[in-house]
Amino acid sequence: MAQTKTCIALGAMALAGTMLAPQNAIAQDVATASSPDGAVTVTVSIDGDGRAAYAVTRKGKQILAPSKLGFLFTDVAKLDRRLTLSGQEMRDFDESWTQPWGEWKTIHNRYRELKVQLKESTALARVFTMTFRIFNDGVGFRYEFPEQPNMAESKIAEELTEFAFASDGTAWWKPAYLWNREEYLYNKTPLSAVSTAATPVTMKLADGTHVALHEAALVDYSGMAVTRTEGNILRANLAPGAGEPKVQKKGAWTTPWRTLIIADDAAGIYQSHLMLNLNEPNKLGDMSWFKPGKFAGVWWNMIKGEWSWARGPKHGATNENVKRYIDFAAANGIPHLLVEGWNVGWDGDWFGNGWDMDFTKPTEDFDIDMLSQYAKKKGVRLVGHHETGGAVTHYDNQLDRSFAFAAKYGMKVVKTGYVTDAGQLERVDADGTKYREWLDGQWMTNHFVRVAETAYKHKVAFDSHEPVKGTGLHRTYPNWVAREGMRGMEYNAWGAKNPPEHEANIVFTRMLEGPMDFTPGILSLKGEKDSDILSTIAKQLALYVVIYSPVVMVADTPENYAKYPKEMKFIRDVPTDWEDSRVLNGEIGDFVTIARKERDGKNWYIGGVGDEEARTVTFKLDFLAPGKNYTAEIYRDGDDADYRTEKRHSIAIETRKLTSTDSLTMRMAPGGGFAIRLVEGK
Ligand code: NOJ
Ligand code: CA
Repeated sequence: MAQTKTCIALGAMALAGTMLAPQNAIAQDVATASSPDGAVTVTVSIDGDGRAAYAVTRKGKQILAPSKLGFLFTDVAKLDRRLTLSGQEMRDFDESWTQPWGEWKTIHNRYRELKVQLKESTALARVFTMTFRIFNDGVGFRYEFPEQPNMAESKIAEELTEFAFASDGTAWWKPAYLWNREEYLYNKTPLSAVSTAATPVTMKLADGTHVALHEAALVDYSGMAVTRTEGNILRANLAPGAGEPKVQKKGAWTTPWRTLIIADDAAGIYQSHLMLNLNEPNKLGDMSWFKPGKFAGVWWNMIKGEWSWARGPKHGATNENVKRYIDFAAANGIPHLLVEGWNVGWDGDWFGNGWDMDFTKPTEDFDIDMLSQYAKKKGVRLVGHHETGGAVTHYDNQLDRSFAFAAKYGMKVVKTGYVTDAGQLERVDADGTKYREWLDGQWMTNHFVRVAETAYKHKVAFDSHEPVKGTGLHRTYPNWVAREGMRGMEYNAWGAKNPPEHEANIVFTRMLEGPMDFTPGILSLKGEKDSDILSTIAKQLALYVVIYSPVVMVADTPENYAKYPKEMKFIRDVPTDWEDSRVLNGEIGDFVTIARKERDGKNWYIGGVGDEEARTVTFKLDFLAPGKNYTAEIYRDGDDADYRTEKRHSIAIETRKLTSTDSLTMRMAPGGGFAIRLVEGK
């Protein structure tokens, strides 16, 4: 909801008739504008061939050198030169809006907008506008094409947008278009050694400035990866479609926003609201039916291979098991219980083949009437699971009845999944033609919106695994409450486990997309075949604060939690919805400490996670209410804790009295972390 809104037109210059086309090869600046605080400046230039470029500076230092713009089409001439300036406009925008749930309750959206109108001086005479929104902490820009005679339909082969970084630096990035979709570890390389990277790509430039390159509001278009062309120049590389054009558009159209968050340090990158602000406001409506909260799951035993999703002697989703998990959730104030393998379709080879999946048909040993009643009596709601196995059309065909079924049995959240190799999603059109699609392709971006709209009709929220990448769309579709889209905890069950630095990477990269269903809280620190997770127990608690999602899993088994009653208290206490969030310190891939204030409450929670090195961090508590006393319940690595030894379970739990004038010094063990609950007035 908009609380305050000002929108000031700063002047329009209609230059039609006085086309500015520089006559020589040297580029001329034709438009420029700065952020409200003057720190970030965008300049648009046109060179003698009529090539348009944009450049970005911050605090007088060049971030992007002139970076080219344009498109290749599959059917008509490319659009990237013989451009002339035909007009420009500027306006200021300032509003605050409230998130129905999130890391911050109130979001301030303040920017200066520059619109630069360009026209081709060729027979095609195509026109478009480059719209730049310049924030104090970065820039978003997009192409806007009005309806026009020579572009009734656009078949885009590639977008030629460049990001020509003015200096080298260090980049954290994961490869794009490989078989395992978005589930790769982050590479840390010089920017000048990036190959083809999925966004967000986060960089620390030579002078220490941090930049995150990504996109906002990816709808009805293909996702943008980037490929390094030469030096420090990255260029858009759109996700493939099933056929020739990567994107097809009719009439007027826009690209998603291409985004650069720019900050002095890693903390500033996370604190930015630019991604959310570049998305459209809530299109769905009332969200009061959705309450953020934790969920337990008939899950970890499947991931570890001890139970099966398929029917048979190892079937996990039996009445007996589910009742036991409902009891566990109820006893710990956990409002939801995920049950996987509850439905018909898992028998045989479901990976990459979901045509047998039916999300309205429970298995014989899962009595949904009885179990949903039992759950209701205990104040718990079931969380349904829709694993499509990549058969997306088959899912589309049963979408409405699947969400109606979920709602009928009291579910407020459904987890969805698209397990198949990249580029192998199955689409079958009404005429029977079959296609193989990519998760970030245009067709899939539209599929996910269909899921959001259908789920909303039934007042159900969803959490998509193997999703299209997040681009802040949860502002527009707030029932799309979480996604996976990265290597989550499940990798710790298997052979190649997540390294200790993983979460300190994720905070400054993947988390810029939006909430992540990481599934923390494996207090046993055990994966399949009794294998050890590369973490201390205190770090598992810290993840509840560090990795944000409004629906957070309590992922270990009830039997394992019974062994850790003291640690379990923190999991019971920690909320999943916040008024405010502050990154107190951090370096990408090394460590991070985040403080969050509970929504509509007074208490604060702090989580710190490190990498494989032991380290000590000191931070001020000046975010606490002045003059108030707090009791800090501290869960820290024991002095001998170490993720490499049996001491990974070593933890010290202690309380301290603190106020806003205090500082805290916390030690993180190798692979460790800490979690703190600060209770006001005690
Ligand atoms: C992969 C998901 O990430 C995991 O959470 C789920 O249990 C399996 N697919 C089966 O759907
Ligand atoms: Ca997964």
